Amino acid sequence: MSTGIRVGIAGLGRFVPERRLTNQDLEKLVDTSDDWIVQRTGIRERRIAGEGEITSTLGLAAARQALEDARMTPEEVELIICATVTGDQPFPATACRIGYDLGAKNAGGFDLGAACSGFVFASQVASGLIQSGQLRRILVIGAEILSRTLDYKDRNTCVLFGDGAGAAVFTALDRAGQGEFLGGSICMEGGAEGVLAQPGGGSRHPATHATVDQGLHYMKMGGTKVFRFAVRVFAEMVQGVIDQYGIDDIGVIIPHQVNQRIIESAIEQVGLPMDLVFSTIDRYGNTSAASVPIALREARDAGRLKKGKLVVMPAFGAGMAWGHLLLRW
Ligand SMILES: CC(C)(COP(=O)(O)OP(=O)(O)OC[C@H]1O[C@@H](n2cnc3c(N)ncnc32)[C@H](O)[C@@H]1OP(=O)(O)O)[C@@H](O)C(=O)NCCC(=O)NCCS
Repeated sequence: MSTGIRVGIAGLGRFVPERRLTNQDLEKLVDTSDDWIVQRTGIRERRIAGEGEITSTLGLAAARQALEDARMTPEEVELIICATVTGDQPFPATACRIGYDLGAKNAGGFDLGAACSGFVFASQVASGLIQSGQLRRILVIGAEILSRTLDYKDRNTCVLFGDGAGAAVFTALDRAGQGEFLGGSICMEGGAEGVLAQPGGGSRHPATHATVDQGLHYMKMGGTKVFRFAVRVFAEMVQGVIDQYGIDDIGVIIPHQVNQRIIESAIEQVGLPMDLVFSTIDRYGNTSAASVPIALREARDAGRLKKGKLVVMPAFGAGMAWGHLLLRW
């Protein structure tokens, strides 16, 4: 039964570490070149967390900016969902640390692990809780330090990823004033641990000297399989929005910032112009759950969110898990 409560975004925040890792820096670490990375991925540099920075400190900075943007105090927040697969530690939840450091004394909190789709999924969970009338003010954060899962001897993975955090405050629409939540999707195709995973450190391969010697704590990826999967589901999700709303209603597409070629292939498949897409891939690389909320805030600052038009946010990643978030700005 619908409560009639409409949900929107009251504030947005983003944070990236100071330290830049350029393609030229990577040329000194692995057998690669600036040309190869730019042509195959569109990435020129990515940010890397410095000493003393952990996932909760990145998430905290983004959360503070989102709350300030929403003109909301930490005490008003009722729930914090932190989408991450690179939390401060396996448990307790990174959301609990962020809530503590924020002073969100009245909030509950948990982490949501869905890799690159994390923020898009967490936003739908938050919107559903508000629509049901159970909660009123939810802080959703996507925060990742993927650099600490990367093998900087593996050129297949280390060039692609970076660190960062983004956040959004979801509330009832009358308070929000920005971006009405219209819906989205949450999908998966399991059994894909061999395609994209950090194999070690869980119950399958608990951390031992042997797992470390075998490098199982590093991210492993079958790049071509991921590429094909990403183009397929990305195009399907955007096509679904076109079928329901038509092309003219789409104001901007803010996809998971995965790889410029994946984005271009999917957009070409559905016959849309590339200027509908907002991309930060050249500056930050793939920041997993942080990529969509970082880009959302930057798109707003750049004046790319058009009043009354749709904001389409498709995301996809390890699982394989994919889904989209749809707002009307
Ligand atoms: C990884 C990726 C950029 C590789 O691009 P590609 O065009 O598919 O390249 P190929 O797989 O054809 O690889 C061609 C060669 O480049 C090599 N290569 C891989 N990374 C390289 C790098 N950083 N620099 C130079 N050469 C590299 C490969 O080893 C391969 O060499 P080989 O033919 O001698 O074995 C691409 O597959 C990709 O982006 N996949 C998706 C990954 C992703 O986004 N994952 C996260 C999803 S959330």
